[in-house]
Amino acid sequence: MALPAPDTIVPNPLTSLTLAQLRERTSMKWRRYDPDVLPLWVAEMDVELAAPIRDELNRAVTGGDLGYASGTSYKEALSEFAKDRWNWEPSPSHMAPVTDVITGYVDIISMVTDPGSQVVVNPPVYPPFYSYLEAAGREIAHAPLGEDLRLDFAALESAFRDATAGGRSAAYLLCSPHNPTGTAHTRAELEQVASLADQFGVTVVVDEIHAPIVYDDATFVPYLTVNGGEHGFSIMAASKAWNLAGIPAAMVIGGTAVKEQVVRYAASTHHGPTHFGTLAQTAAYRHGGPWLDSLMQGLDANRKLLASLIDEHLPEAHYTMPQATYLTWIDCSALELDVDPSQHFLEDARVALNSGPLFGPGGEGHVRLNIATHPDIIREAVRRMGASTHRG
Ligand SMILES: Cc1ncc(COP(=O)(O)O)c(C=O)c1O
Repeated sequence: MALPAPDTIVPNPLTSLTLAQLRERTSMKWRRYDPDVLPLWVAEMDVELAAPIRDELNRAVTGGDLGYASGTSYKEALSEFAKDRWNWEPSPSHMAPVTDVITGYVDIISMVTDPGSQVVVNPPVYPPFYSYLEAAGREIAHAPLGEDLRLDFAALESAFRDATAGGRSAAYLLCSPHNPTGTAHTRAELEQVASLADQFGVTVVVDEIHAPIVYDDATFVPYLTVNGGEHGFSIMAASKAWNLAGIPAAMVIGGTAVKEQVVRYAASTHHGPTHFGTLAQTAAYRHGGPWLDSLMQGLDANRKLLASLIDEHLPEAHYTMPQATYLTWIDCSALELDVDPSQHFLEDARVALNSGPLFGPGGEGHVRLNIATHPDIIREAVRRMGASTHRG
């Protein structure tokens, strides 16, 4: 086995900060709740910035290099990263930088559907799949995940049929990998998506923000590489994998059959990302690989740690280890709590989690727990959660 060169060995980013240091943070994760609460909710990571990103941002700040974004480095860096990690080399000519991922999928869906059209989603799913599209005048249609937390093709077919009835335009917003379940869709599943979309004339828009965060026992398959995927759109970003939510930038990528639409979108009046965000994303894709690899080892240890902690402290809860993402989905229905489990754990255990029902149908009785933190914080949080359910 080839060992990495010493200068590419990065220590586990999840163990470098203490709880006291994290409590100094001013971002949402650490400020929403009282200081005695352990926050394992919103998708921020408790890590220091990867050194190559920090150095690039320091360079820009020190030199006052804070004008408008320029050039094609961001597109090229993403293409090189995709080639290295997924054996796919998307052409920069099929890409359009955009402020952030949510803006990207709202813009593309607004472009390919008419006001009042339906957008199919797979609940339980990331809550902003609902709110922003509803605000953009689209109607949300549900094709729930199956009990195995994977795509349910009978549900998808029926939703596609209803959404396109009478010749209406429709889109499918797919989360790949899936937030909150951590499901990594297989090539066979994605090909079935493409085939159904083709049959009904539905435009597939895939939110691939979590793509770099896939564990060794699964594979991320870019939707645009599957048979039939050339008619779809992907939105990618480095923001989740390198913890850049505060300085976002994202990329719309069109399949080979919809290149013209991306070119038109890129030329339209839309909000491009900031120079600062673009520099960060570019450095992440270009030089952040070793840091990401080390992060993934830390997250892998944390997802396994959580399994053993749940066995020990919350044996009635049901946790399916994620194949991707640092978000875990825990079924607490068997605990038979009187209130929404996230409310119970906040009030009685002083642990902040995301409330399952906000993710749509299928979210009842569930919580989402973010494992991108120090293992000691996970240990203490689950211990408190267990103790809170055993009090008389
Ligand atoms: C699936 C998914 N899409 C989009 C976002 C947000 O992306 P952005 O901040 O670039 O809009 C998140 C954040 O957690 C997410 O999980």
